[in-house]
Amino acid sequence: MSFLLKRLTQKRIWTRIYKERLSEPLHLNIISFFVFLFGSFRSKVLYDLVLRPHHAYSILKAADQAKARGFTEISILEFGVAHGSGLMNMIKVAEKVTNTTGIKINIYGFDTGKGMPEPIDYRDHPEYYNTGDFPMNRDLLEERIKGKAQLFLGPIKETLKEFLTSTSSKTPIGFVSIDVDYYSSTMEVLELFKEDPNLFLPLTYIYFDDIFMENHNDKSGELLAIKEFNETQKLRNISYHKFLVNKRLFKNSNWTKQIYYFHVLDHPYRFETKRNDAKRVLDNPYLNI
Ligand SMILES: C[S@@+](CC[C@H](N)C(=O)[O-])C[C@H]1O[C@@H](n2cnc3c(N)ncnc32)[C@H](O)[C@@H]1O
Repeated sequence: MSFLLKRLTQKRIWTRIYKERLSEPLHLNIISFFVFLFGSFRSKVLYDLVLRPHHAYSILKAADQAKARGFTEISILEFGVAHGSGLMNMIKVAEKVTNTTGIKINIYGFDTGKGMPEPIDYRDHPEYYNTGDFPMNRDLLEERIKGKAQLFLGPIKETLKEFLTSTSSKTPIGFVSIDVDYYSSTMEVLELFKEDPNLFLPLTYIYFDDIFMENHNDKSGELLAIKEFNETQKLRNISYHKFLVNKRLFKNSNWTKQIYYFHVLDHPYRFETKRNDAKRVLDNPYLNI
């Protein structure tokens, strides 16, 4: 609660509340007040009342999907940890998702541990990010997340290999948060999505943090990395789900535009032919007129 109160002292938080919440219908904001006080975790996710709603939405969806497919555990990953506020939020959200769904959630964070590496060229948006930006207080963070999440420290192109030797299809990846700022670092992360299809849920949720500023475009940064990935992968696709915003109650939030779906077209799930005994028949009310 003290964390929430501290955030409410920040001007940018009030600007966001004004733009993203108060611009929404009055009845939804009134209902939100009661959901905030008395609602279940699932209803708070529906009403965007959980801090970092992109985490809450994606982790809950991944756990629901895992449960429906008979898994008991999933893995969720954050690339770009820095001071660890995103990772610690994922830990809190995951605890609530586990209480709601019964699915155990393994959490992994990846970072240099020393802040941003050197940019390669304009594609890394050096106008936004500096070498050494966003360092980590490693000892303090490791102490706070002990037993709750595991850190892989070093360049992602190396630590990803290490992670892959320790994970398995019994704990499929259901959500990945990508917040490494650079095109070059995102390319290192996207190597993950070329791996064994069974390491993922058939639909894995991805949050891209660095796509919303005015200079972001698909010839640089994370958007270029997504484009190049899709152009070179025949059976894998990372795509923005245009209809997500229509499914949400609150439509003015940025985060719905930052969630992408990773489609694993060579996942065994895509080859499971539906064989129902009863054929499905479509209704035609006009026939009886
Ligand atoms: C904006 S910060 C992450 C902020 C964090 N997600 C949060 O919510 O507070 C970006 C981080 O990405 C890390 N990073 C960027 N490129 C990397 C790479 N190639 N290997 C490992 N870490 C990298 C940097 O060390 C930096 O800490």
